[in-house]
Amino acid sequence: MRRVFRSFGWVPFVLLGAFAACSSADDSSDQVREALQQDVVLQASDFGCIKDWPQVRDFRITNKLGQEADSVARANAPGEGDYPVGTVIQVVPVESMVKRAPGFSPESNDWEFFLLDVTESGTTITSRGVADVVGPGGNCLDCHAQSERKWDLVCERDHGCGSIPVTPEFLLMLQDTDPRCSAP
Ligand code: HEC
Repeated sequence: MRRVFRSFGWVPFVLLGAFAACSSADDSSDQVREALQQDVVLQASDFGCIKDWPQVRDFRITNKLGQEADSVARANAPGEGDYPVGTVIQVVPVESMVKRAPGFSPESNDWEFFLLDVTESGTTITSRGVADVVGPGGNCLDCHAQSERKWDLVCERDHGCGSIPVTPEFLLMLQDTDPRCSAP
């Protein structure tokens, strides 16, 4: 995974200019760092056995910026604000949604969708993106964007998304088949 500090064009330069005159170099670099937005660009090796992550209701959740407790807390307060940047959610081994930095994609509220191929030897990213990722059940964004805004595109069972023809019990069973969990 690359941790990316996205610069919003003018911000660092304005801050550098403003602080160069009145602060020490350390102060100004701290300020600049705060002004940059941290982002996550996941690589195949960042995915793994989803059963290693905390379970909330029927999905698994973690955070690739070290904020797992915040992501779990958000999941446990459904409908109350957006998931933190770096959140990764999966309900089956081969589909994932990852919360990118603000501005990544307004149409998906900054979620990036992934279709994965998983084997005992690891993960391959088959497809990633926003509007063009299509899994066995259809286009990810088309379905997830039907959820009411307060759910932050997380469907669960009653958030307004199109339905899927499998029970929660079946989804949990699929989690048990994640081949990466039995890798040596
Ligand atoms: C036909 C509608 C539909 C499509 C298409 C769809 N999903 Fe979902 N997705 C759902 C529903 C409904 C759930 C809730 C399942 C549950 O928890 O019982 C769900 C659950 C999820 C979850 C767990 C968090 C949540 O929203 O509940 C993730 C992650 C996810 N889907 C990713 C994807 C990805 C990635 C794609 C595309 C490759 C995709 N989905 C395509 C309807 C869909």
